[in-house]
Amino acid sequence: MANKSILVTGGAGYIGSHTVLQLLLGGFKTVIVDNLNNSSEIAVKRVKELAGDFGKNLVFHKIDLLDKPALNDLFSSTRFDAVIHFAGLKAVGESVHKPLLYYSNNIIGTVNLLEIMAKHGCKKLVFSSSATVYGWPKEVPCTEEFPLSATNPYGRTKLFIEEICRDIYCSDNEWKIILLRYFNPVGAHPSGYIGEDPRGIPNNLMPFVQQVAVGRRPALTVFGNDYSTKDGTGVRDYLHVVDLADGHIAALNKLSDLNIGCEVYNIGTGKGTSVLEMVSAFEKASGKKIPLIMAGRRAGDAEVIFASTDKAKRELKWSAKYGIDEMCRDQWNWASKNPHGYESSDSN
Ligand code: NAD
Ligand code: UD1
Repeated sequence: MANKSILVTGGAGYIGSHTVLQLLLGGFKTVIVDNLNNSSEIAVKRVKELAGDFGKNLVFHKIDLLDKPALNDLFSSTRFDAVIHFAGLKAVGESVHKPLLYYSNNIIGTVNLLEIMAKHGCKKLVFSSSATVYGWPKEVPCTEEFPLSATNPYGRTKLFIEEICRDIYCSDNEWKIILLRYFNPVGAHPSGYIGEDPRGIPNNLMPFVQQVAVGRRPALTVFGNDYSTKDGTGVRDYLHVVDLADGHIAALNKLSDLNIGCEVYNIGTGKGTSVLEMVSAFEKASGKKIPLIMAGRRAGDAEVIFASTDKAKRELKWSAKYGIDEMCRDQWNWASKNPHGYESSDSN
């Protein structure tokens, strides 16, 4: 697929920006569409710089997926070999309060994209699904065959989009679709030049820990220390964002297979790490003490969830290279160089 042209929706965001960099370094021509709803154009500028000579192969368009005529214009002027679709809203709590916003943005945005792709004969897609589609799994590791369920509107958008993808493949076998179920992406590019920059109060563990370490928040609230786990705190499968980005390149390569159809892969490390283990690894990497407040369980949280990685290893020839020490090292490198994210940086 190298030297092919790839459209990346949501490419200015956290996972998108890291993936775009790997695409450029891999020789792909890359076009980003993003409405910048949860991201900054500075991330795009920095990706271009990090890519060196390959940076010239990157084009950015500020387009909302709900703006179907604008999408159509883009596909009329540019031929794409495949699309990686990251664009979506992702805050679980917000989705509970504003379900229609999530259904509209995530589902209608995706349907618009799929319609325009079909119209222009571009039928190769990699979609960002999530381990959230396993709901509260009865056992671990989660294999791709586990029953699916959702515990909130955000999760339901992922579930519905997966079903939509299966339906369009059934209706038209020319489609080649890979659904990647990410576990918990953390960390940043080792340069410390791009990373996660959430708006408002972070919902996820590591962005919150990072803000405590740079003095933006006084303490981390640990949601539950009475689970049946090694130290009572929740266990997750944390994954370096650069490994995740490389997983997308592996998926794109897989799309060249003749009979790929609509396939799903877990993207995780296969290892479970508790909240306290993660905090301790971050303290070691940063030399900063993270004050903790023990609190009750967060509604909707699973106790333990981690991936079976066999299918991705076998069929995508992909597996994670980095462990939690590298994740925390790179997260801290990014946080210490950009304590207030992109907007406050000197090198804007
Ligand atoms: P992010 O918010 O950093 O990136 C998403 C990007 O999509 C943002 O740049 C945002 O501005 C853009 N966007 C949103 N709606 C849009 C629209 N209608 N039109 C155009 N652009 C739009 O999030 P991320 O962490 O990089 O996540 C990327 C994808 O991966 C999302 O679909 C998310 O649900 C999924 N995912 C993320 C995680 C995680 O922990 N970060 C886990 C599993 C799945
Ligand atoms: C959450 C979402 C999930 C989404 C995923 C990635 C919920 C219920 N689930 O999953 O749908 O796919 O993010 O975006 O929101 N923790 C703390 N204190 C904090 C934050 C988190 O103790 O301030 C704990 C959590 O209880 C959990 C672990 O840290 O045990 C990881 O939490 P988080 O980073 O939010 O990821 P998930 O819970 O896996």
